[in-house]
Amino acid sequence: MKWREFPSYDELSSHAARLFIDAIRENPRLVLGLPTGRTPIGMYERVVDECSCRDITTFNLDEYVGVSGEHPGSYCAYMWRHLFSHIDINKANTHIPDGTAPDLDAECIRYERSIADAGGLGLTFLGLGQNGHIGFNEPGTPFDSRTRVVELTHSTRIANAGLFEGDHVPERAITIGIATILESKRIVLLASGESKRDAIERLRSGEVSEEFPASALHAHSDVTVLTS
Ligand code: GLP
Repeated sequence: MKWREFPSYDELSSHAARLFIDAIRENPRLVLGLPTGRTPIGMYERVVDECSCRDITTFNLDEYVGVSGEHPGSYCAYMWRHLFSHIDINKANTHIPDGTAPDLDAECIRYERSIADAGGLGLTFLGLGQNGHIGFNEPGTPFDSRTRVVELTHSTRIANAGLFEGDHVPERAITIGIATILESKRIVLLASGESKRDAIERLRSGEVSEEFPASALHAHSDVTVLTS
């Protein structure tokens, strides 16, 4: 695991954007795993206009169950707001789990299969939950987990309440699994701010435990952690 610490969120975001852009320049047909949350917004802002994204394929890590893509709190709306509307990506190459699918288990199987059909994830960016979650893989998730429906913890629902503005924050989500993430050729984890300090230190400690999902990344040979 490689570590890079930055004095500010802006510098972290610039560096993350550089990794994103360089990887696409090197492989214009790159398959990316993409996170949501507040942390990657600065990276997404800096990617715009820097390279052609026409031939890349993206898979988002997760989506809320029961929330349509039009709802501002959905991760689909987030991705269009912060990235997809501002780059020349082909909409057909963007993938986000459908949390409104009538058969959610079938949707999870379909999603996992489409990642495999695309040749697997080449470069995956991750955020970090305060409790160490990656994607929506909460503490206790088996490291061999695949795409599935999960219950969100109370603390995660509170941390993510912002965009639901009084609406009920979803209790469930679809997330790609830890095993799915670990199959990505390269992984870059972004974590910024005081609220992530404890989780960052726990990750740095080297402890490996299913009670701390991000610790699964210690088993991967190409992980870079960017902190500020
Ligand atoms: C959500 C997402 C995660 C993300 C986390 C951290 O729970 N499902 O993928 O890493 O938020 O978000 P933030 O960057 O806002 O702290």
